[in-house]
Amino acid sequence: MLYYWIKTLHVSTVSFTIGFFTLRFVWMLNGSRLFNHRWVRRISQINDTLLLMAGIGLAVMSRQYPFAAPWLTAKLAALLLYIVLGMFAFRWARSRHDRTLFGLLALLNVAYIVSVALTRNPQPWGVWFG
Ligand code: HEM
Repeated sequence: MLYYWIKTLHVSTVSFTIGFFTLRFVWMLNGSRLFNHRWVRRISQINDTLLLMAGIGLAVMSRQYPFAAPWLTAKLAALLLYIVLGMFAFRWARSRHDRTLFGLLALLNVAYIVSVALTRNPQPWGVWFG
């Protein structure tokens, strides 16, 4: 039962992080001040911490670990890439063109993470498209 609740927390925070990232991305492109508002950053930090803690909880409870389960290794590597792409999109990139590019790549990457999670396969396209 505990596993069920942690998984629900994991999937809910995943949905929130994707939705909120997209919203911040749009705010950034529109030049909205909400994009960098203290509370907006705080909310996403809190959500992402819960997401990570729930993910680690699931991994421990189901005894599937990165570097032992290939799909979790791929997921963790893609998660690190997601963080770097997000930093480029929201902080480091200077031009609007580069910010847009990094933001779209981050969203593509998160779609990969979700596909890996749903298929338990580091090459989910093999499962989707045979
Ligand atoms: C942005 C990062 C992440 C995304 C988008 C994500 C997405 C997902 C999704 C959608 C599921 C549900 C799969 C299903 O319903 O069958 C899932 C399950 C899972 N996630 Fe994540 N996850 C992320 C990060 C992590 C991290 C960092 C860990 C652990 C180190 C982790 C460990 C797990 C485990 C063990 C499951 C399997 C649950 C089960 O089989 O019952 N996730 N993840």
